[in-house]
Amino acid sequence: MTLKKDLISIKHLCKADVEHILKRAESLEDVARGERSLDLLSGYILATLFYEPSTRTRLSFETAMKRLGGTTIDLGSIDISSVSKGETLADTIRVVEGYADCIVLRHPKEGAAAMAAEFTSKPLINAGDGAAHHPTQTLLDLYTMKRESKLEGVKIALAGDLKYGRTVHSLVFALSMFNAKISFVSPPQLAMPDGIKNDLTAMGIEFEETEYIEDVIDDIDVLYMTRIQKERFADINEYNKVAGAYRIEAKYLTGVRDNFIIMHPLPRINEIDPDVDDTPYAKYFEQSFYGVPVRMALLLTLLGK
Ligand code: NCD
Repeated sequence: MTLKKDLISIKHLCKADVEHILKRAESLEDVARGERSLDLLSGYILATLFYEPSTRTRLSFETAMKRLGGTTIDLGSIDISSVSKGETLADTIRVVEGYADCIVLRHPKEGAAAMAAEFTSKPLINAGDGAAHHPTQTLLDLYTMKRESKLEGVKIALAGDLKYGRTVHSLVFALSMFNAKISFVSPPQLAMPDGIKNDLTAMGIEFEETEYIEDVIDDIDVLYMTRIQKERFADINEYNKVAGAYRIEAKYLTGVRDNFIIMHPLPRINEIDPDVDDTPYAKYFEQSFYGVPVRMALLLTLLGK
C-alpha cells in the first residue's frame, strides 16, 4: 500500500492501491444500500470541512461513515463558523483534529489539502482543492466504469471544461494506469492544460483532441461530461462565450457501442438533456451512489480497519 496517512492526489496511489479500494467497495455495496449492517467504524468520528459548495461529496461521506456505524461532525456554512472571524485553515485543522479521527476537506485554493495535512496527525482526505485534485471522485469514477462498462483499456472521451475541471484533472492520471485511450473534447479556450498533456505524453499515454463530441461518440465506451466551472472564471464574459457549448440529447445516441455509458460527476447544468436520463446509457445517478461504497472502502483503509 502506497496509501499511508492521507489521500491528497490520485498521483500518490499505485494501481494495486486503486484496485484494492475498488474491490473492497464491491464487497460493501450491500452495506451502502442498507441491506446489511456492519459496525466496523463504531466509535469513530469523521469531520467534514467544506469551504466550497457540495452535495454528493459531503452527503456520501456522511452516509459512508454512518452505514459503517461511525458518526460525523460538520463545519457547516463557513459564514457561521470561526472562518468568518478570520481563523486560518491551519488553526481550524489543529482544533478539529482534537474532535475527529479523520478529516475531509474541500477548499477553493489549490494545495490547501496538502498544506492542511501537515497540521494534523489524523488522516486527511482531499475532497477538492480549487481546479487541482479530486481523488475520491476519481475512485468512484473508476468504479463506475468497472461496474457499468469497462476500465482496463477503456476508450473514453472527457468533454466540457477541461481547463478548470478538477474531476478530469484527477481522472486522467488514474486512467493512465489502466491503458485508457483518451479523447479530450472542449472549446479551445477550455482545453486540457499543457502541463497535464505533457505529463501524459511522458507516461506514453495516447490522447487526441477535438472540439466536437460527434467526432468521437460512436467509437468510445465512456462519455464523461462535465459542467463549465463558472466560479473559476475571472471574467464572466469569458464564461458567457462558452456556457452551453455542449448539450447531449437522446437523438445523438443512435450509433453508440453496446457497452457505451454516459457519466457526469454532477451537478449538471444543461450539458445533458433530461431525455437522456431514460436511455440505458445514462449512468450518472448510479455513479453518484457508487460514491458511498467507494468512500466506505477508503475510510476503512485509512482508519486501518
Ligand atoms: C464536482 C466538483 O466539485 O469538482 N462535483 C462533485 O464533487 N461531484 C464537479 C463540479 O462541481 O462540476
